[in-house]
Amino acid sequence: MALMQRLRSSFFVLGTNYAKWTSSQVILARAVSTMQPLSKKNEVTITFVKANGERIKAKGKVGDSILDIVVNNDIDLNGYGACEGTLTCSTCHLIFPKDVYDNLPAKPTDEENDMLDLAQEQTDTSRLGCQITMTEELDGIEVRVPAGINDARVS
Ligand code: FES
Repeated sequence: MALMQRLRSSFFVLGTNYAKWTSSQVILARAVSTMQPLSKKNEVTITFVKANGERIKAKGKVGDSILDIVVNNDIDLNGYGACEGTLTCSTCHLIFPKDVYDNLPAKPTDEENDMLDLAQEQTDTSRLGCQITMTEELDGIEVRVPAGINDARVS
């Protein structure tokens, strides 16, 4: 009984009288309050493989673009993301494995394809990192970073 009173009193928050809750409600609320935060489940990882073989593993969140992940992790990819995702530079060019490319959440727009045409080392599985939004399904992917970049704004 004393335990139930302690539990009920620990839920007296923001003027809500949780003391009137039933035992089942208190137990359910307690269980929910100890669950892992949702943001933890939304964490994704991506590995960038540079032309020299260096591998850089970085963390981001579902909903981040790959450009967001590069910026937020302060990853040193020379010139990457020069236009900050405004689709005017092509410096965020990345090469995806075929199976990943085929399952990316959205197909490239005409504007993205126009920019990709200006990228160095373009392949059939090239995309612009600023246009790729991470999903749970993309967690753990590896992408290849081309050796050269072309900033379409200055060429
Ligand atoms: S950051 Fe410039 S096109 Fe993606």
